[in-house]
Amino acid sequence: MSPIQSQPSTSSFIITILIIFLLGPLPHQAQARKPHVIHFRSPNLYPEGITWDPSAKHFILGSFWNRILVSVSDSGTVETIISDHSLPENVTFLGLAVDSVNDRLLAVVQAMEPLPHFQALAAYDLRSHRRVFLSPLPSDTDDGTRREIANDVAVDSKGNAYVTNSAGNFIWKVNDRGEASIFSKSAIFNFHPVDKDSPFSFCGLNGIVYVGEGYFLVVQSNTGKMYKVDADDGTAQQVVLPQDLPLADGIAMRKDGVVVVVSQHKMWLLKSEDTWGEAVVFDEIDLDREAFPTTVVIGAEERIYVVYSQLLDTMRGNVGRDKFRIEEVRSEKESGLDHFWMFVLIGLGLACFLFWRFQRRRFVNNFDKKTT
Ligand SMILES: *[C@@H]1O[C@H](CO)[C@@H](O)[C@H](O)[C@H]1NC(C)=O
Repeated sequence: MSPIQSQPSTSSFIITILIIFLLGPLPHQAQARKPHVIHFRSPNLYPEGITWDPSAKHFILGSFWNRILVSVSDSGTVETIISDHSLPENVTFLGLAVDSVNDRLLAVVQAMEPLPHFQALAAYDLRSHRRVFLSPLPSDTDDGTRREIANDVAVDSKGNAYVTNSAGNFIWKVNDRGEASIFSKSAIFNFHPVDKDSPFSFCGLNGIVYVGEGYFLVVQSNTGKMYKVDADDGTAQQVVLPQDLPLADGIAMRKDGVVVVVSQHKMWLLKSEDTWGEAVVFDEIDLDREAFPTTVVIGAEERIYVVYSQLLDTMRGNVGRDKFRIEEVRSEKESGLDHFWMFVLIGLGLACFLFWRFQRRRFVNNFDKKTT
């Protein structure tokens, strides 16, 4: 067969490959951009909790002392959306969650030492910003001497809220009418020994996320364990992990099923193949521990963001900070996989180019032979 006849199909093949090659790397270039950092100003905010409101497309953060909740846009515009001075003085907003079923913001309210004991779940209407309910969370001790620590909240697909108690190692449930009860008090939450002298040894169950399909994942700070909790009956089992997640605090889940856990020091990315009977840690990323990250949230386009609470300031007795930040964290392990495919495409493109050059030379040589 003459090279002249083979020419059109070869060149169309090359053009196709070049188009794939040129279009292919575009999303990869987008992913190779720098992580998104949102700097913003809010006097004395020291935000411990963060959530993402997908309909308003902004983050919502809680204040450590000011009894306010602020929204922060992708570009760092801050707005105080709720200022609730009917709450006891100096109480803290901890975990936050958006209940998309009822269009509400759920906020854990906790009185820290040395304030009088108080722990509750507040629900605010996301449009009017009015409070729908404030539900005190019951203690399981009769004398009420233990300070309960209502910490994080997750919401199921029906609008029920689930709040972790870090001091009591149990989970409350608050339905969409604001009725609170003790929901999950599995013996497994107290199974692992805790070194009472280690920092944050008082802090048990902490970050909670609703996975769907009727269960939650909960992490425990002072043991580094993760539990799978049934959303119907509150029974729990430990998720088998290859390692502990010491001082695990916040937890979030991406739509692709990847679960992200953060401590003050680290972010762990986990995957499970068997609906969280067992899981693997496929990446571990160091965080800025001086800035004290407390929790993690999935923002726009499934990006992972941590909030830097700057709480070390307050522990050292310094207050008055007004600059804070929310920072995107990217897994190099995940973008490394993208790089792999980019190199495969570049290699393929190069091979096609050389093949095309070779064919063209043959065509020119043959043509010369015929004309001379
Ligand atoms: C709240 O904090 C302010 C400022 O630190 C303090 O002066 C006030 O006494 C506190 N209120 C309560 C009830 O502890």
